[in-house]
Amino acid sequence: MTQFDQQIDRTGTNSIKWAVKPGELPMWIADMDFKTAPAIIAAMTKKVQFGVFGYEEPPAAYFTAVADWYAQQHGARPEPAWMLYCTGVIPAVSSLVRRLSHPGDNVVVQAPVYNMFYHSIENNGRHTLSSDLVYDAAAGRYHIDWADLEQKLAAPLSTLMILCNPHNPIGKAWSKAELTHIATLCLKHHVVLLSDEIHGDLVFGAPAYTPVFALPQPLRDNAVICVSPSKTFNVAALHAATVIVPGQALRDSATRALNNDELAEPNLLSLPGSIAAYTQGAAWLAALKQVLAANRAHVQDFLAAKVPQIRPAFENATYLLWLDISALGTTSDAFCAFLREHTGLILSAGGEYRGNGAQFIRMNIACPAAMLDDGLARLARGTQLFLEQNQ
Ligand SMILES: Cc1ncc(COP(=O)(O)O)c(C=O)c1O
Repeated sequence: MTQFDQQIDRTGTNSIKWAVKPGELPMWIADMDFKTAPAIIAAMTKKVQFGVFGYEEPPAAYFTAVADWYAQQHGARPEPAWMLYCTGVIPAVSSLVRRLSHPGDNVVVQAPVYNMFYHSIENNGRHTLSSDLVYDAAAGRYHIDWADLEQKLAAPLSTLMILCNPHNPIGKAWSKAELTHIATLCLKHHVVLLSDEIHGDLVFGAPAYTPVFALPQPLRDNAVICVSPSKTFNVAALHAATVIVPGQALRDSATRALNNDELAEPNLLSLPGSIAAYTQGAAWLAALKQVLAANRAHVQDFLAAKVPQIRPAFENATYLLWLDISALGTTSDAFCAFLREHTGLILSAGGEYRGNGAQFIRMNIACPAAMLDDGLARLARGTQLFLEQNQ
């Protein structure tokens, strides 16, 4: 028995995911049902026991820890001088939308994409302009329509693009060639590239995750990259992120954005927690990735054998599996409501990610194997019942 087999009762812990009725099984929001790495818990415990919690600022050791992590894990070392601390990736994205674009501007995205991007854009009075990813139903894969993306970036009011690298919810790590192409188009059309790389550590096989800060100049100087230990180490409530801005002019703007919005001060656990994650977490992450890889493979085998009506459409990134339900002839909202009502299984309805998302569901498989088996059994039972009632 490893720590990844341990089933932890998270009800009554203020967890958003586990605010459920008795018997329900939540497999939606992007956190994991695993304890974080022991080294992180030890560092945070030490801090709590110290007992004096005045104002703090990130030390050089924080930025060095981030830089070394990317060098070791991903073969590209961002300069510590490029980095800014922020209290989360979405706080940074919203703040940068306000600073790097104007009300009424277009912000380009690639739907279906992480739903919070739409909030960051539209709650700030900007217009979402999506270059929808193109779905090849036969292959169960998406690709970029390059002509459409260029046309949308070239529109006079397009000033910012928010990229998801790797891409949630379709679970795709963009290749270096694709990223170079995107960054080149952004530069050509004077659109700043804001790359959310929160899922970068959770990539399985090729293509590897390429951080946008690793692209050559002048591409990287036109980009802002957001990273965080929160998905990798299951520390979402730590509210810690790093904004990496290689270009000096853009970095000055980003610094103003985060300071004006008061997002640049760490909470008492974010520095020790993040430093421990980045300096001592590699072995834990390697073990986690083995478990996630096994879970991903198990879902694929299970669906092929037991629920062929639901087709995997995810690629090699994240623990969020994008599943095609178009064969059921319904919408993701209706099917998710049906599953919850009849089996207690709670999944994300793909429609909230826009694009063609309404024919997909998203399943979070970052949980112990026994919990995954429970979820899959509910999914199979629910699908069977749905087909019986609707055919
Ligand atoms: C692509 C992406 N960005 C950002 C976040 C949230 O980041 P934070 O909690 O740091 O605001 C998530 C969480 O699911 C995500 O999937």
